[in-house]
Amino acid sequence: MKYPVKVQLVEKSRREGLDIENLPFGKTFSDHMFVADYIDGAWQNCQLVPYGDISFAPSMMALHYGQSVFEGMKANISTQTGEPMMFRAKKHAQRFNKSSERLRMPAVPEELFLEAVNSLTVIDKKWIPQSAGSALYLRPFIFASDESLGVRASSSYKFIVFTGPVGPYYPKPVRILVAQKYVRAFPGGVGFAKAAGNYAATLKPAEMAKEEGFDQILWLDGLEFKYLQECGTMNIFAVIGDTVLTPPTTDSILDGVTRDSIIKLLTEMGIKVDVRPISIDELIEAHKVGELKEMFGSGTAAVVSHVADISYQDVVYDLPAIEDRKIGPMIKKALTDIKENTVVDNHGWVTPATSTILEKV
Ligand SMILES: Cc1ncc(COP(=O)(O)O)c(C=O)c1O
Repeated sequence: MKYPVKVQLVEKSRREGLDIENLPFGKTFSDHMFVADYIDGAWQNCQLVPYGDISFAPSMMALHYGQSVFEGMKANISTQTGEPMMFRAKKHAQRFNKSSERLRMPAVPEELFLEAVNSLTVIDKKWIPQSAGSALYLRPFIFASDESLGVRASSSYKFIVFTGPVGPYYPKPVRILVAQKYVRAFPGGVGFAKAAGNYAATLKPAEMAKEEGFDQILWLDGLEFKYLQECGTMNIFAVIGDTVLTPPTTDSILDGVTRDSIIKLLTEMGIKVDVRPISIDELIEAHKVGELKEMFGSGTAAVVSHVADISYQDVVYDLPAIEDRKIGPMIKKALTDIKENTVVDNHGWVTPATSTILEKV
């Protein structure tokens, strides 16, 4: 690797005595993290160190002007080899840099990004849970670290990756509320980027939806309030008749890695997939005539989450029982089997975690 990395391992792991097979999402973090600084136009101070607090000045720019993007990716233990495997790490690296570019932040070289996520997966292998629906979740992120006020792009940045064992994000089918007042993204904006601010903007409406008993909001387009975009943490699929529909990714929709994998797998299975704009009217009409067979969301955290019902203009539309669904359960299994290496991966999506920096320790 071109970038020198200082490695300092924990003296005593926090792993002992923890039941990592039964954890809520995002509350437990593994022993190590990776940190690098972008200063004077170059990535430097790369370190693999114990997970812990970082200090910053109150004037740090990310806190004021929101230059901050992140990724979410997973690693599993291969049921074949017992070794940790990353899922589509390169694609996550590419999306990370696409997000950063939109927020005027420097790219993290793919080599550095991949070394960081791979090394953490290797060093914290014993933190990878193996129960159904569990994985090691990896959170790479970058933020503006100049200590300065005034709206401009920062000149220095921090890139950090930490990891943690996670169980299923949605343990049961989700109840969805179709947005009627608020929007998540609009043309020309930053909706396609995994920008921290995108999530902040959804918190108030999401909280209101939760108070009404819903798990997620299904966002509509910001111009006409007519076309489906995506949910808070997942892309959306609908099965109408025998066709699987999902909206095209525009600059308002996150280009989900899980979505991309599902489209490819379904197409290879000979299932009709139509990537095209879907209006909410079309969806409701299909429900009325009994043609809306299934809906599911897709995401790294959510994997494949079945939609129990959707609510639009104060009417709740129930979807068929999960036992009567074919495509959602089938694709969930197909994807999980690939991630856990239970079946052969013909796509080059699953790669063994390897580290060049740890070889030298
Ligand atoms: C807004 C949003 N849409 C979609 C997704 C799904 O993307 P992916 O499958 O790459 O995790 C996520 C989760 O990452 C998300 O936060």
